[in-house]
Amino acid sequence: MAINKFLFHAGRKFRILVSVMIEYPKEFIKMLKKANSVAVLTGAGISAESGVPTFRGKDGIWKNFSAEELATVDAFMNNPERVWEWYLWRRQVMSGVSPNPGHKALAEMEKLFDDFTLITQNVDGLHRQAGSNSILELHGNISLNKCLECSRPFAGEISLERGELPKCECGGKIRPDVVWFGEMLPRDIINKAFMASERAELFFSIGTSALVHPAASLPVTARQSGAYLVEVNLDPTPLSGFADLAIHGKAGEILPGIVKLINELRDEPKK
Ligand code: APR
Repeated sequence: MAINKFLFHAGRKFRILVSVMIEYPKEFIKMLKKANSVAVLTGAGISAESGVPTFRGKDGIWKNFSAEELATVDAFMNNPERVWEWYLWRRQVMSGVSPNPGHKALAEMEKLFDDFTLITQNVDGLHRQAGSNSILELHGNISLNKCLECSRPFAGEISLERGELPKCECGGKIRPDVVWFGEMLPRDIINKAFMASERAELFFSIGTSALVHPAASLPVTARQSGAYLVEVNLDPTPLSGFADLAIHGKAGEILPGIVKLINELRDEPKK
């Protein structure tokens, strides 16, 4: 980083040369230049810098709350009020946050490649708020509701104060439109995610512990199908040793640098 700051004053071409040669492997630079098809998988880590808690790790949600009691169909059947109380709290947390430079960099990156797919496990809607369009929300969206029985969307308000939770026209209970443990992911979305991973020449796995399947299989599928696999994460994960390049640091600091580098590489005169 010190080198970059110093070179900031040393003229554009020299800066490019140094970032190319010192900061990233040649193969990665080559892929940034030539890839047409790019897929990205994000997890809770990309929203951490916006103030959304992650699930695992020291201060992770699952350290303080029980997934079995809050994020399963059984939990909802047993105590819908308790599950809703938790989701309404999470909605409140998420309503007060904004996209960070990591989300914004991915929205920029989308414009730089012909075929770009952003696959997210996050339910916070921050990628859309940042301006991304090509998004596959694998685990749903916390701001939406649906019927437990017929899956029809429900746009009405959910309030625990009124005593009784709303019901669908079919009589089913209304639940958050997220994927709970033990549930299948929406078939069309996960199929599209696997197709994007198979055709990707460059795949980024960002801010995910890479533990929860099927999402965790996507980077593996991508690499086995020939993609150059890059991980961006604060800490090593089970994917790190399998990736072609593992970059350890904050997504909100690393991704803007990568987007800047892509732009610089495109501005370079062709030889
Ligand atoms: N930049 C990059 N990575 C970060 C940052 C950051 N600023 N902050 C945290 N991380 C990393 C952590 O090191 C960790 O590896 O993000 C990862 C977050 O992991 P998890 O909390 O396990 O989140 P995720 O992988 O998205 O979880 C998958 O599990 O409980 C379910 O449905 C939930 O979608 C979620 C799924």
